[in-house]
Amino acid sequence: MKNYIRIIALLITTISFAQSGRMYIPSELTQENADEMRTLGMEMTIDDVYSQQDGSIKDAIVHFNGGCTAEVISKQGLLLTNHHCGYGAIQAHSTVEHDYLKDGFWAKSRDQELENPDMTVTFIKRIENITDVVLNGVTATLNEKEKHKIINANLKKITAQVKKENWQDVFTKSFFDGNAYYLFITETFKDIRLVGAPPSSIGKFGADTDNWMFPRHSGDFSLFRIYADKDNKPASYSADNVPYKPIHALPVSLDGVTENDFTLVYGFPGRTHEYLPAVAVDQTVHKVNPAGILVREKALAIVDNYMRKDPKIKIQYASKFASIANYWKKWIGENQGIEKSNAIAKKKAFEQEFTKRIKTKGLSNKYGNLLQDFDKLYAEKEAIAVTRNYLIEVMYRNTELLNFAFRLYQLENTYNKKGTEAFNKAKANLIKSFQAKYKNYSAVVDRAVFKSLTALYKEKVDQAYIPNMLKDVNAAKLTKKVYSKSALTNAASLLKILNIEDPKTLLKKLNKDKGYQIGKSFATLFYDTVNPKYQAINQKIAAVQRQYTKAIMLAFPERQFAPDANSTLRVTYGQVKGYEPKDAVYYKPVSHLGGVIQKYIPGDYEFDVSPRLQQLYKTKDFGSYASKDGKLAVNFLGTNHTTGGNSGSPVLDAHGNLIGLNFDRVWEGTMSDMNYDPKICRNIMVDVRYILFIIDKYAGATNIIKELDFVHPKQQ
Ligand code: ARG
Ligand code: GLU
Repeated sequence: MKNYIRIIALLITTISFAQSGRMYIPSELTQENADEMRTLGMEMTIDDVYSQQDGSIKDAIVHFNGGCTAEVISKQGLLLTNHHCGYGAIQAHSTVEHDYLKDGFWAKSRDQELENPDMTVTFIKRIENITDVVLNGVTATLNEKEKHKIINANLKKITAQVKKENWQDVFTKSFFDGNAYYLFITETFKDIRLVGAPPSSIGKFGADTDNWMFPRHSGDFSLFRIYADKDNKPASYSADNVPYKPIHALPVSLDGVTENDFTLVYGFPGRTHEYLPAVAVDQTVHKVNPAGILVREKALAIVDNYMRKDPKIKIQYASKFASIANYWKKWIGENQGIEKSNAIAKKKAFEQEFTKRIKTKGLSNKYGNLLQDFDKLYAEKEAIAVTRNYLIEVMYRNTELLNFAFRLYQLENTYNKKGTEAFNKAKANLIKSFQAKYKNYSAVVDRAVFKSLTALYKEKVDQAYIPNMLKDVNAAKLTKKVYSKSALTNAASLLKILNIEDPKTLLKKLNKDKGYQIGKSFATLFYDTVNPKYQAINQKIAAVQRQYTKAIMLAFPERQFAPDANSTLRVTYGQVKGYEPKDAVYYKPVSHLGGVIQKYIPGDYEFDVSPRLQQLYKTKDFGSYASKDGKLAVNFLGTNHTTGGNSGSPVLDAHGNLIGLNFDRVWEGTMSDMNYDPKICRNIMVDVRYILFIIDKYAGATNIIKELDFVHPKQQ
């Protein structure tokens, strides 16, 4: 046992060469990281970036609403994040009279700032490596179940005993596929108000066509403010709350970027899978992704067709379309990137080297069979993984009626498992959420999607996983039966059922509904058959992966490893750099306002440019936000390794000043979730001067500008 801990501890602190383009745990940055950052141009110390004591840059970074990242940019708790991260809040405050999505929103004084009921932001106060304590008592001879039991008991004890203030929270996470554990002390603020947002024609310029792409010209930002109680502590919304006084607010640089400048991105990346074996990447690229791409391609084509014909449907489906299209496009880029960069062959070559090294080190007994185990397990997983993806994409993500039925099925389960009281509570919540959903629902669109996707499902999935209702008839017939009769096709008829007081009577009525019946048979298929089967095999894979990740670190002791992203705080450093997307084409790293004007299509929903922005461009009224050449920079590229969740992350210069706002990656590099390749993986950022220009010159919100602390690091 002692050995096990020693090895792990050794692995985590292995001193060897660092690599830019990785997501490091800020509290684990080593001298090697510092050296490398200095080579890349950084002029801070590690302590400036992260310190267990108050006062480092980390004290300006928050997890925004559990998904995105945001940063404090003024001493009065002003927060900067992406437009697409604030989108839900901006939409919620919008009405036909005040369409903030379309026209933008600017609070010109504190009392105009808008509260957002369920919004939270979380600061990380402290990070502790608790690996040794968590793995205490775990020995090689225990089986998986026994190991997990001990680990969970240890975790429980540690979190119960941890020292923290009563307004703080604690959580733990596993890293390196279960080879390390960390503890996080956090502070979550609950009174977050909307301060500003540009119109979508700026914040979402280029929309889906430009999404995941460069050259890009988007002003993807929005502004919020943290409010605290009079002791500067987290509190629920109150009119008496005051702007939060931060420990650190990022100074804003007005000096801009040039190629090869140092960049540091700080934030909460969601998920990456860098230590997967070749066989897993192969399966994702050739089996799982194609299923998702195919389903979404069909759904998107149908929805797009209706959106083009009907302006009401266009508004109703804009946000849903964007979110379905987002990952559809990402998967296509990911597949192309893996293919073009020969990532699978490279992983196989790596595995050969791994096997050789394991042998040389005399570790074959312990780790010599892992790759064969993977081969066997992934072969076993393939069919069920693909089926599960079809099922989720068809039932849960793309056919609204089936999604509604899925939620109703969960409601029925709540009654069966927890009784009337829990049922009524869940029902009230569901009714509220349905009211919002049906506002943007068109049975005509959904019917066409249902017909197409159930036919596709029947064609692609094994007989054993097709509900009887769909097996017996063709998809067209089933569609007619469901959509001509089901109460789920409109809010009023569904509410009539949901408003029945007695749960038993309600559920009886619901179970007679054709739409519910088909939805329920898909849902039971998922819960009773497909998902358990998938999870069982996944558990076996996870056990092998834990061994494999550990063995990789043992086999390559000269390398420094960073754990996969898991929605915890990370830093990634790099430089401003262009790239070569294909032969003979080079993308320079910086785009300009002139490019916005070049893309302008009058009246287009993706590429319209407001008269005001055109005017500012014509008169070149860029103030102090222009570059030396007189141009106004809009977006720029870097070599930082980012993923979903890094949206809204600050981009810092060599001294820790704010120079940009992360919001996307280039298409050729979206494979970085599985295969980061410094040659073509680039993150896309908004130049902070474009943000300032929009706030100041475009919106005239000088009240916001006055709060900021400007610096000129390049002029010193
Ligand atoms: N691709 C970026 C991300 O993954 C931006 C998405 C929002 N923008 C859009 N046009 N859908 O979140
Ligand atoms: N747009 C992504 C997000 O919302 C970030 C881009 C990426 O995946 O790199 O987090």
